[in-house]
Amino acid sequence: MEIINRVDENLQKLIDKAFESKNKAYAKYSKFHVGASVETDDGVIFGGCNIENASYGLTICAERVALFKAYSEGKTNIKTFVVVGDTEEPISPCGACRQVISELAPNSTIYLVNKDKTKIIKTNSKELLPYNFEL
Ligand code: THU
Repeated sequence: MEIINRVDENLQKLIDKAFESKNKAYAKYSKFHVGASVETDDGVIFGGCNIENASYGLTICAERVALFKAYSEGKTNIKTFVVVGDTEEPISPCGACRQVISELAPNSTIYLVNKDKTKIIKTNSKELLPYNFEL
């Protein structure tokens, strides 16, 4: 896990996509908006936002929306993952998403970004969830 200071053109594109997606969050109950983007090995980008429900437990996080969009289009080799949130520090993905990422995007480089894009952590699935559950 490291803090990065340089953002190249491609990463900037992914961060922009994640923030665009965050603007689409349906966060009626928590008011906490999260955005994500994933890029597959062939350069296709998918965005995702959190989508809540009056039956709170049915809420889905931005990370899983982005990942499931990619998988549902047959894009399963996730190269880069970006998560952005309205937090002072880079957002920290929830445990459920860490488990899903460990299976569906195990080799991705993951960037966690704070609300004003001033702090970016570079990490990966193993760091976020060591000793993940597998069958
Ligand atoms: N949320 C995400 O979308 N991703 C995370 O990593 C943390 C939490 C959402 C779920 C819920 O809609 C809101 O943030 C508050 O928990």
